[in-house]
Amino acid sequence: MTPIGDFIKLIPKVELHVHLEGTLEPELKFLLAERNNLELPYASVEEMRAAYDFDDLSSFLIQYYEGMSVLVTEEDFYDLAMAYFERVAAQNVIYVEMFFDPQAHTVRGIELRTVMSGIRRAQQDSEKSFGIRSQLIMCFLRDMSVESAAETLEQAREFRDCILGVGLDSDENSNPPIKFQQIFADARSQGYRLTMHCDVDQENSVTHIWQCLNDIGVDRIDHGVNSLEDDKLVEEIRRRELGLTVCPISNAHVSDGTKASAIKAMLEKELLVTVNSDDPAYFPGYMTENLTRVQEEVGLTKNEISQLVQNSVKASWLNGDERAKYLQQIKAFTDAN
Ligand code: ADE
Ligand code: ZN
Repeated sequence: MTPIGDFIKLIPKVELHVHLEGTLEPELKFLLAERNNLELPYASVEEMRAAYDFDDLSSFLIQYYEGMSVLVTEEDFYDLAMAYFERVAAQNVIYVEMFFDPQAHTVRGIELRTVMSGIRRAQQDSEKSFGIRSQLIMCFLRDMSVESAAETLEQAREFRDCILGVGLDSDENSNPPIKFQQIFADARSQGYRLTMHCDVDQENSVTHIWQCLNDIGVDRIDHGVNSLEDDKLVEEIRRRELGLTVCPISNAHVSDGTKASAIKAMLEKELLVTVNSDDPAYFPGYMTENLTRVQEEVGLTKNEISQLVQNSVKASWLNGDERAKYLQQIKAFTDAN
């Protein structure tokens, strides 16, 4: 019998909630700063890591956006994405739906074309080199204007075939889903899949999740842990078979803990709950570390871990054949271990 720790390391995994810009490790940040002749406000990697001292979403977001200043050229985006793919290939991640934040770059004068071509090239190379398949979700920054989101949606038209869905991230405070109702309706009419962040323990979390369902018609919810506070909401999420992309180590940094018991409760309520890494360079832990942390806190069985990973395939936006192939791969691993 495979020990549980090895089972988690080896099981083929799928990630549905990771921000490309949140995978920018301090070592790469220094390298890119040097390459682009930029000064960083830290003398060393250690000093930078020590400054990653967040206790809520806003304090994290300040560091997250500041860190992106080193991303300038096509090659920078390529190197960033390749570093992530290489790292998670070693954790047996087989498929990723990855967020990126176009506005965080276009506001700095970096063209969307530069961002897209670096990421696309890394996606192609990582499929060849590491066997990882990936698709992209373009996020709108909810603390920016509706007009800016509309402009971004328009700019993305020429990359429509390379982007699977749209999401909503950044500071949720005073930026409810409803603010972007028209943008998401437009995105839907262009054929994008829809998801939105409903971050953990925000003001009006439950109201925001209801808006995602009733006013936006999302295909998935990012985080969404607070749905457990409302039985009717839980029932509706289950009825619609909406995936919830929970990020335990991220939760522990911006709220009062990993919410591992909430994950277990969601499994028991047969919700399509999944485990993900969010911003692993800032909330240290990729897929294996996140699954391990939940397992250690609430004692998940191998079948429950396998269920979480299978949920990620079911909640993904893969087509039927691909879904069946990945589910088969995960089930075969589980039966053999
Ligand atoms: N941008 C990157 N990570 C985020 C998160 N966890 N919540 C909101 N916006 C984000
Ligand atoms: Zn996120």
